[in-house]
Amino acid sequence: MNEGSDRAVLVTGAGYVGSHTAKALHARGIVPVVFDNLSSGYREAVRWGPFEYGDIRDTAAVISAIEKHSISAVIHFAGLIEVGRSVARPDLFWDVNVIGTLRLLEAVKLTRTPRVVFSSSAAVYGHTDLARISEAAPKHPASPYGDTKLAGERMIEAQCAAYGLTGFALRYFNAAGADTGALIGEAHEPETHLIPLAIAAALDQSRALTVFGDDFATPDGTCLRDYVHVNDLAAAHVAAVLAKRPAGSFEALNLGTGVGHSVREVIAAVQAALGRDISFSRGPRRTGDPPILVADPSLAQQNLGWKAEHSGLDEIVRDAMRWEAAPAYGVGRRPPRATGLAAVAA
Ligand SMILES: NC(=O)c1ccc[n+]([C@@H]2O[C@H](COP(=O)([O-])OP(=O)(O)OC[C@H]3O[C@@H](n4cnc5c(N)ncnc54)[C@H](O)[C@@H]3O)[C@@H](O)[C@H]2O)c1
Repeated sequence: MNEGSDRAVLVTGAGYVGSHTAKALHARGIVPVVFDNLSSGYREAVRWGPFEYGDIRDTAAVISAIEKHSISAVIHFAGLIEVGRSVARPDLFWDVNVIGTLRLLEAVKLTRTPRVVFSSSAAVYGHTDLARISEAAPKHPASPYGDTKLAGERMIEAQCAAYGLTGFALRYFNAAGADTGALIGEAHEPETHLIPLAIAAALDQSRALTVFGDDFATPDGTCLRDYVHVNDLAAAHVAAVLAKRPAGSFEALNLGTGVGHSVREVIAAVQAALGRDISFSRGPRRTGDPPILVADPSLAQQNLGWKAEHSGLDEIVRDAMRWEAAPAYGVGRRPPRATGLAAVAA
């Protein structure tokens, strides 16, 4: 029986989700060793353990970090995440997300690291009519991004069976919110996620918000998504690192709430929280945007004892606003005085 790690864990990619997970690992007495090439991440987000600069495609550099810190599990976040960019530059996504995962797995195999937890995505399912998606649902990714996430999962699953690794693929639905400590938060550049964009548009009329498609077969015509607080995602990773599993096992688990919110509902929640109107324009549907992506999260609860605890839309919006009021890092961010949100940060 592989008992799971309780010592040092290699966290590839301490971006948005990785930095929150590093904090959660540290809180459980596990040392998060961050391995990142800072291509889209921030050194300031690495606060809870050692930092190793490197690229996941560089197997020797990964081996060196694993050996130096006596790593007993890898949580693999590093990669490219923008769906639209993956349509425009699929080669880049296959290089970083697929070749990168392959090279990383080579390091895992050569160092006999027993466990890998992989950041997967609801994007592996693609278009579906299901009101709630279970792990058994058909997987037909609607974008090159989704293809690369599914390829990563399949590589890991096969290597678990072949080399006795223990693997988890955690399929996040829409990560949102920020840690209440205000030291870390969402700082994608460019930002394509709805909640930070809606907050930005509420604060600054010059930052126009576009709603991509309002003629979907959903109650108000806009896309339905399952927003899950980034600290809930972090807790699931800690659970996956600590769970007792036999060598060679692999599980793919949905991380969501089971409740969908439409784009219009999210805009209304941000408006209500800020007490400001958000003007938005209507744009065409984006390639690769399924109308509904809502999780059936029951398997994660059954297998990991995990349940989203902080993922009510109001809590997510409140925590995202606190970060947006005074982001500790990130380009294009404005100081709190300019946002009029200083009170939220207090
Ligand atoms: N944010 C979401 O809503 C969401 C949803 C589903 C799945 N995911 C998955 O979660 C993971 C993390 O997402 P995020 O929002 O935190 O992304 P992010 O962009 O904030 O973080 C990614 C990190 O990976 C690093 N990185 C990129 N390429 C690298 C490379 N070649 N070598 C080393 N480091 C590299 C970046 O510098 C960055 O710090 C991704 O794998 C993504 O596919 C995210």
